[in-house]
Amino acid sequence: MASGSGRCPPPCFLKAVFAFMVVMGCLDRGYGGITSTFVRSEWPSIDIPIENEVFAVPKGDNAPQQVHITQGSVTNYTFYKYKSGYIYHCLLEGLEHGTKYYYKIGNGESAREFWFTSPPRIDPDASYKFGIIGDLGQTYNSLSTLEHYMKTGASAVLFVGDLSYADRYQYNDVGIRWDTWGRFVESSTAFQPWIWSAGNHEMEYMPHMGEVMPFKSYLHRYDTPHLASASSSPLWYAIRHASAHIIILSSYSPFVKYTPQWMWLREELKRVNREKTPWS
Ligand SMILES: *[C@@H]1O[C@H](CO)[C@@H](O)[C@H](O)[C@H]1NC(C)=O
Repeated sequence: MASGSGRCPPPCFLKAVFAFMVVMGCLDRGYGGITSTFVRSEWPSIDIPIENEVFAVPKGDNAPQQVHITQGSVTNYTFYKYKSGYIYHCLLEGLEHGTKYYYKIGNGESAREFWFTSPPRIDPDASYKFGIIGDLGQTYNSLSTLEHYMKTGASAVLFVGDLSYADRYQYNDVGIRWDTWGRFVESSTAFQPWIWSAGNHEMEYMPHMGEVMPFKSYLHRYDTPHLASASSSPLWYAIRHASAHIIILSSYSPFVKYTPQWMWLREELKRVNREKTPWS
């Protein structure tokens, strides 16, 4: 797994290989974005079996799995007896705006190539299309939602919490279902930023399994660029993207007056510049 934030540790295979094909201007499709008429049916919501091809592990020896980009360490963790693989987070610095970058992860025959387009310069007139997804899970309806989203041509996802629904499972299956989810969403997350926030299904407070650290799987897997916005926690942070100043809060962390989240938000709101980012 790799994502675009944090320090790039020595065994990090991410190479932002060559690049550019300036696409600014092509990003603008000339209409303001129309909400799809698609409505996913609610029931039945049965998780797709692990053997399904949407969760397939990439071929090759030790090939990178679950690649995703985030807007901006080697870590590993355990959950009950599940042991995660190594989770690499790489910060890419000095990127140009509105530029298509190719990157390759892995060695030799196991190497896999992806690309992403960096967002346009911060500007009140910068045109940009966000998608909003929440409560995704890994059911057949989740797959249909993901496929519909990918047809919209949006450039980034604001993810409003409840990613994998791995907390429906017990014991080692919790970690396994986070892995399947990472592979499931890779067809989008490896190619554009998904801007994460945590929902109640990320808490995974499971004392009967000895797991009492809230958000353990989420925090190890989905790093966020919180230090860049002077936040003391990856659960709340802010980014500026095109013509938008986006503030991500955690409703499952303390937020009343004088809590760290409240104090940070008060300062962050002062940093909003509506001349530059009219959308907040
Ligand atoms: C991380 O991986 C190393 C090497 O395999 C292992 O010794 C260590 O116990 C792992 N840490 C956790 C928290 O699983």
